[in-house]
Amino acid sequence: MDSNANPGKNFIEIMGQRRSFPRLEEPAPDKELLDNIFLSSLRVPDHMHLRPWRFLIIGGDDRNHLGDLFVKDCLQKDPNAGEETCESARKKALRAPLIVVGIAHYTDHPKVPEIEQALATGCVLNNIGLAIYSCGYGSVWRTGPYAVSSSVCEGLGLNSNEEILGFLYIGTPMKADRPLKAIKKDDFFKYWPAKV
Ligand SMILES: Cc1cc2nc3c(=O)[nH]c(=O)nc-3n(C[C@H](O)[C@H](O)[C@H](O)COP(=O)(O)O)c2cc1C
Repeated sequence: MDSNANPGKNFIEIMGQRRSFPRLEEPAPDKELLDNIFLSSLRVPDHMHLRPWRFLIIGGDDRNHLGDLFVKDCLQKDPNAGEETCESARKKALRAPLIVVGIAHYTDHPKVPEIEQALATGCVLNNIGLAIYSCGYGSVWRTGPYAVSSSVCEGLGLNSNEEILGFLYIGTPMKADRPLKAIKKDDFFKYWPAKV
C-alpha cells in the first residue's frame, strides 16, 4: 500500500495488526526515535489538561536497581524466599532492554475524577506501545504484584497520590509474529437504537 497516498488508512491497518510481544531482546528503539514517540504519545484526550501522569524510563544497567526492588518485594512477602525465587524476581527487570513505568499522578479536581486521570495516563502508555509497534519494535504492558508493591512504589519514589498503571517492556521481538486471533467487531459495536 502507498502509505503517502492515504496515511490514515495505513495507520488503521497498523493499529489493526498490533499485538504484544512478551519476549523482547536488544535493541530498543534509539533515543531519537524514543524521544519522538514519547512526545507524540502525550497527545491524548486529557480532561482539563491536568497532565495527570509521569513516566520513568529504565534501561541498561539501571534495570538492576528495579530488579533489586523486585527482590525486596519478594522478601517482604516471604522473608524465607530462597535464592532461586529471588533470582527469578530479579531477572524480571531484565526481560526487555527498556522499561517505561506509567504512573498516574492524581490531582483532586472537582470535575475530573481519578478514573479519568487514570484513563488518560493509560492512553499515553497505549500510544507508546502502538507507536513502538508501528516502528517495527515490540512491547508488552504488564502490571502484576509489582505494580502495587509498597517496596517497588517506594523505591521508585511514588507519592501517596500516585499509582503505577503499568510497566511497558520495550525491545525487539524475539519471535516472528504469531497469527492474530480474530476479533469480531459486531460482538462489541452495536448501532443504537437497534433496527428491527
Ligand atoms: C492494564 C493492563 C495490565 C496488564 N497486565 C498484564 C500482566 O501483568 N501480565 C500479562 O501477561 N499481561 C498483562 N496485560 C496484557 C498484555 O499487555 C497483553 O495485552 C495480552 O498479553 C494480550 O496480548 P495482545 O496485546 O497481543 O493481544 C495487561 C494489559 C493491560 C491493559
